[in-house]
Amino acid sequence: MAPMPPPHVLILPYPSQGHINPMLQFAKRLVSRGPKATLVTTHFIISSVQTKASAVAFASISDGYDEGGVLSADSLDEYFRNLAEVGSRTLAEFIEAQRAGGEPFTCMVYDTYAPWACEVAARLGLPAVAFSTQSCAASAIYYYVNRALLPVPGDGSHVSVDGLPPMSRSEFPSFVARDGVYYPTLTDLSLGQFNHLEKADWVLFNSIEELESEVLAGLKAYRNARTIGPTVPSMFIDRSIDGDDCYSVNLLQADDACVQWLDDKPPASVVYVSFGSFATLNSEQTAELAYGLRDAGHAFLWVLRASEQGKLPAGFLEEVGERGRVVGWCPQLKVLAHGAVGCFVSHCGWNSTLEALSLGVPMVAVPQWTDQPTNAKMVEEVWGVGVRATHGGGEQVLLSRAEICGCVSQVMIGKRAQEMRSNAVKWKETVRGALGGGGSSDRNMVEFVEFLNSIKA
Ligand code: UDX
Repeated sequence: MAPMPPPHVLILPYPSQGHINPMLQFAKRLVSRGPKATLVTTHFIISSVQTKASAVAFASISDGYDEGGVLSADSLDEYFRNLAEVGSRTLAEFIEAQRAGGEPFTCMVYDTYAPWACEVAARLGLPAVAFSTQSCAASAIYYYVNRALLPVPGDGSHVSVDGLPPMSRSEFPSFVARDGVYYPTLTDLSLGQFNHLEKADWVLFNSIEELESEVLAGLKAYRNARTIGPTVPSMFIDRSIDGDDCYSVNLLQADDACVQWLDDKPPASVVYVSFGSFATLNSEQTAELAYGLRDAGHAFLWVLRASEQGKLPAGFLEEVGERGRVVGWCPQLKVLAHGAVGCFVSHCGWNSTLEALSLGVPMVAVPQWTDQPTNAKMVEEVWGVGVRATHGGGEQVLLSRAEICGCVSQVMIGKRAQEMRSNAVKWKETVRGALGGGGSSDRNMVEFVEFLNSIKA
């Protein structure tokens, strides 16, 4: 009898940097354990990235914005609506074409921010697995609020969430708190991302059990929730896990020379600053951040996307000279893994938070919107690896240079800095343990592959 072909998994991330990379790294780990994986993204994104260097296959479908992607849509709301409508149709056509071509998929792993994909899978009789690129904490809040299991706290009050410290309104994900600018489609999507769970066989989280054990236990009461993270390429953690394949998708051109710039800096002396692929600060806020970094007195490497660099105050770069370097995009993992970096000033996107925890770098948390206020609270109060620039965060919070300078100093020097650094090193070891043989994420991957192997073609 001919041997059974390996399971073939369709991986469907929401088409943006912060979602594609974690799902790509997950796909690579799957492939290293036997299954085949094809990552499906949009025609626009595939046209701008190099896809040859990975063990994972790539394919693309239309989202209705083949020429310009999300930035060519009139609004984010419009993009989300069309992505669901056009994406549902083109994804179904793609799955049918694979079947007709004799290379059918065994299972679909879809991003919880693309819940329509779960309906496509159900319609075509394909088992579906939900994948959350955000923390268990943020996901639990969305899930509980949506099912009316948790009230949104009023001003000045706190609520208790299983496994989390008391939370104020501004520490909830911004779409739930509805502080700042209100995005109706994103709010509905965030709250409804787990609506399809009765159709999904598993729910995977890019997190580790040790990091969020109690909140995960609360979620497990509802579904087969498992952690398989962090999806940081394991060459940065332990090469024995799945080899040297550090391929990742970069939607912006990284400035690799900034890693050499770090080489001649003393250990833990440089402040690294990045607000990820989407968040923007206005000119006033950019200036306060700039002067706060200047006043803190340490060398700094600041990722300011090209579209943002015009907001720097006049003469700032000349004033700081060699002490500061501003780049449009960098190889963030190489930077965080570099011994010269002593602190990460971050918006606390979930990927950046996990990367800092995995590489043992303490943080100054400056959350902006979406899940970031919740992540920032955990960084400071639960994991003890950083301080928050402004308690509560949120888009409307004004930063001051004095606060930035004070937070950077607290993380870089003194007794509290040493405590945060030693906590960060402990988390780094915990991550290594979770990913290594027999660790919590490794065991969940083993069981997930067994599940894939058990699916009848
Ligand atoms: C978005 C949301 O903002 C975030 O809150 C959510 O959890 C995931 O989706 P983004 O804002 O881009 O993501 O932040 P983040 O999650 O931190 O992801 C950014 C990614 O880009 C990280 O993997 C980081 O390593 C990478 N990056 C960032 C670079 O490679 N180079 C850079 O210069 C900056």
